[in-house]
Amino acid sequence: MPADITANTALCGIVLHPAGHTRSPRMHNAAYAAMGIDAAYFAFDVTPAALGTAMAGIRAMGFEQVAVSLPHKVAVMEHLDEIDERARRIGAVNTVTVRDGRLLGTNTDWIGANRALASKIELAGKRAVVLGAGGAARAVVYGLIEAGATVEVLNRTVERAEDLAKDLGAQGAGPLSNISELPHDILINTTSVGLRSDATPLPAQHLRAGSVVMDIVYDPAETRLLADARSCGALPIGGKWMLVYQAAEQLRIWTGRDAPIEVLEQAFSADDAS
Ligand code: ATR
Repeated sequence: MPADITANTALCGIVLHPAGHTRSPRMHNAAYAAMGIDAAYFAFDVTPAALGTAMAGIRAMGFEQVAVSLPHKVAVMEHLDEIDERARRIGAVNTVTVRDGRLLGTNTDWIGANRALASKIELAGKRAVVLGAGGAARAVVYGLIEAGATVEVLNRTVERAEDLAKDLGAQGAGPLSNISELPHDILINTTSVGLRSDATPLPAQHLRAGSVVMDIVYDPAETRLLADARSCGALPIGGKWMLVYQAAEQLRIWTGRDAPIEVLEQAFSADDAS
């Protein structure tokens, strides 16, 4: 956040509900400061009923970019002027950039997941298992397939996994118990299991030494799944990395510049030590 906000300060923010937990303002404002950008980023708690009015306000008040988070990633699509092909395939928009008064929607969640994984493992040709079949799973599966990995989708509700796999071109789908017969290089949890709890979506016996295990849950910073992965000799990747890299991509789209990953990561993690 600039010390001196003027009429020239660019307006950015995140639209979500509820808003209390979001770390995005801290991350983006820290990045603006590090990049020398005169901009300010706010969190807007917008109810589903007010989403259309809020997006009209974004346009009317000259915002430059807003992130869109739960529960609005699908509903926001009807309020935009353009949606790119990737966001259409994923079926969700998490980034709206305003150009010449037009609201342009895209999705950076899939890039966030890919970059977080690619920092530890080359994705092309690898066998990935994705747990879950909700909105987050769609972005992750899309990204893995884009990067040339083969993907199996496992979910508590098997029909949802089958629909997702067919829609995005994953290799297969099934119940979570199928993990016992699926050799894999990469495992990603996209379910909410483990969020602020000690639960895990898979018993530790199914984790494989030498594999990469990513959890999109970021609270706690080390979920039971990631602790189990570490214990069995797998390489854990915390959920914060997907958020950090997707934010970096939002900054790149808006400014055309590479964002400082370590600044975003430190701003994200500032609470975790306490
Ligand atoms: P999001 O858009 O954040 O991915 P979602 O669409 O509600 O959220 O999806 C949540 C995912 O977590 C789903 O895959 C869900 O499984 P179902 O499709 O069977 O509902 C999964 N999930 C949530 N709670 C779960 C639990 N206790 N055990 C296993 N899977 C769970």
